[in-house]
Amino acid sequence: MIILGIETSCDDTAAAVLVERHLRSSVVSSQDAVHGPYGGIVPELASRHHVANVLAVIDAALSRAEIAIGDVEGIAVTRGPGLIGSLLVGLSAAKGIAFSKRIPLVGVNHLEGHMLAVFLEREIAFPYVALLVSGGHTSIYLARAPGRYRRIGATRDDAAGEAFDKAAKMLGLGFPGGRVIDQLARGGDGGAVRFPRASIREHPYDFSFSGLKTALRERLRRDLGVSFDSTGAVRAGALSAAWIADLAASFQEAVVDMLVAPTVAAAAELGVSRIVVSGGVSANSRLRQRMQEATGARSLEVHFPSPRFCTDNAAMIAYAGARRLERGERDELTLNAVASLPL
Ligand code: KG4
Ligand code: ZN
Repeated sequence: MIILGIETSCDDTAAAVLVERHLRSSVVSSQDAVHGPYGGIVPELASRHHVANVLAVIDAALSRAEIAIGDVEGIAVTRGPGLIGSLLVGLSAAKGIAFSKRIPLVGVNHLEGHMLAVFLEREIAFPYVALLVSGGHTSIYLARAPGRYRRIGATRDDAAGEAFDKAAKMLGLGFPGGRVIDQLARGGDGGAVRFPRASIREHPYDFSFSGLKTALRERLRRDLGVSFDSTGAVRAGALSAAWIADLAASFQEAVVDMLVAPTVAAAAELGVSRIVVSGGVSANSRLRQRMQEATGARSLEVHFPSPRFCTDNAAMIAYAGARRLERGERDELTLNAVASLPL
């Protein structure tokens, strides 16, 4: 089947074409430059930029795949979770094409897209434990079969990507900051500052990251005597490059510790030998390294999508949608977006 995937759940406008489950094109138009100056995503701006870009992104995906719109046999579109205004733009575009070309439409859960992104590059046997770790979500799932997922644990407060982004903002590194922290941390000492590792005793597979940003702020303010500007970032020049690298590495080490231990423990308790890590934060090089070490020591398999399929993209939506369409699933053109759609 030739599938067009469309993804606009947050701040990236994306489209992709899949032919018989093989990726032919994947186009992502990032809005980082739009939201960067605000230090976070501005939902109204995100929707407006999706409106301005979505048709051009779809056209680009089709032309790179050398597929005419008339040859598309099914449309897969993210219907949630995400920002409601953003979701509606992609969904409306998808419905318009499905209606005018009389082709089937299927709504895809964004989290299922992340969960299956790794299949774009290799087949993995079920069951597996999935650590889904992004800017909006941090959860552990047991994936029993395509479409059969059970949540084992989730964050009680911030997502891990959100923690990275808040730390980066505080350190004056811009937004989104996960990738910058990853890069700077390579030149820093992860043991320079010991940040607290939160765990919830009765719920070992749940996470909590909100205490970390408070710990970072307190460390900066009280111990290093750093003051902040009106945006909450350290004053320019207040910290040396070496200190910033050490803080980035130490912060990253704490986040990675908090992600690796519960995921590996969940796989052991459930008797599952495979782990899949996905979502934007799964692009983190230290998380990848530490997860390899922890699973290698226990003879577990671990799989990560390539970095371009870790962050938001439409290839993963097309893939998850293709499997649903192949199973005969269809949605009506009355399909609505749901901001807090559960998996
Ligand atoms: O999956 P994604 O693109 O969007 C959501 O669905 O949230 O994830 C974006 C998040 C951001 O918080 C970003 O800072 C983080 O993923 N991220 C990273 C890295 N690359 C992206 N965090 C840590 N290290 C990275 N290399
Ligand atoms: Zn995502």
